[in-house]
Amino acid sequence: MSGRIKKAVFPVAGLGTRFLPATKTVPKEMLPIIDRPLIQYAVDEAIEAGCDTLVFITNRYKHAVADYFDKAYELEQKLERAGKQEQLELIRHVLPKGVRAVFVTQTEALGLGHAVLCAKAIIGDEPFAVLLPDDLIWNRGEGALKQMADLNQATGASVIAVEDVPHDKTGSYGIVATETFDGRHGRISQIVEKPKPEEAPSDLAVVGRYVLSPKIFELLEHTATGAGGEIQLTDAIAQLLKSEPVNAYRFEGTRFDCGTHLGLVEATIRFALENEKLAQPAREIMKKMLAE
Ligand code: G1P
Repeated sequence: MSGRIKKAVFPVAGLGTRFLPATKTVPKEMLPIIDRPLIQYAVDEAIEAGCDTLVFITNRYKHAVADYFDKAYELEQKLERAGKQEQLELIRHVLPKGVRAVFVTQTEALGLGHAVLCAKAIIGDEPFAVLLPDDLIWNRGEGALKQMADLNQATGASVIAVEDVPHDKTGSYGIVATETFDGRHGRISQIVEKPKPEEAPSDLAVVGRYVLSPKIFELLEHTATGAGGEIQLTDAIAQLLKSEPVNAYRFEGTRFDCGTHLGLVEATIRFALENEKLAQPAREIMKKMLAE
């Protein structure tokens, strides 16, 4: 591997059942944190990392995601006529110039590994990123994927984002064991999808950011169904470890698990407190509520 990653894959074909009834009509990736949908945060992170080709793995129920990245002619005209320049800029810059969006249909919900495999023809033979938009990563400095892309460029090896989780939560994550770990990164020796606490090799959990070697595609093609009866990306990575180095990387930043109610609430509070106009009134509202 060499050079800088240019392509990013966003698996967005999940059902989002945790957020029903909202997700009956609104894809979970379109749920907002303040004024931007979750998918926009992941897309911005990929663009910051240097990606110019964004591959969305979608399905027939997710038209809203494709519509969101399309040009909204009527709305643009209306805003233009009303002289609403600021709002016009907001909807025009959902994707900056030079960045293209590609949509690939995943016809069957066979798991994350299968979703990534659907991007094979678009990615070709180069390292690429995978971002799971449910995991919103916030950092005042460089975004998590940028940090990982730098490490990939420096080492040529695949990189997987990790963070420590409570031991009783290992069953919700891919868990890695490393040969060496200097506090920030280390070569992975083992990776297991959603092990029970008593079987987990560590408490270092995979977070939804990956920079992967294209070799992962041929491995995914031969990956049988694993945990939860799905084709797991983790299982293909376990095979990749046998022939190539894969590094775990503890990123700088905070992850909000926006696949859960509490994570979405937490992210909303954080972004409100970071917002110039909202910070002060949001603080006051919270103080008042906490005193009730
Ligand atoms: C997926 C991955 C898992 C990873 C997690 C991070 O699981 O399979 O290895 O730890 O994302 O969010 P999911 O949450 O989709 O079940």
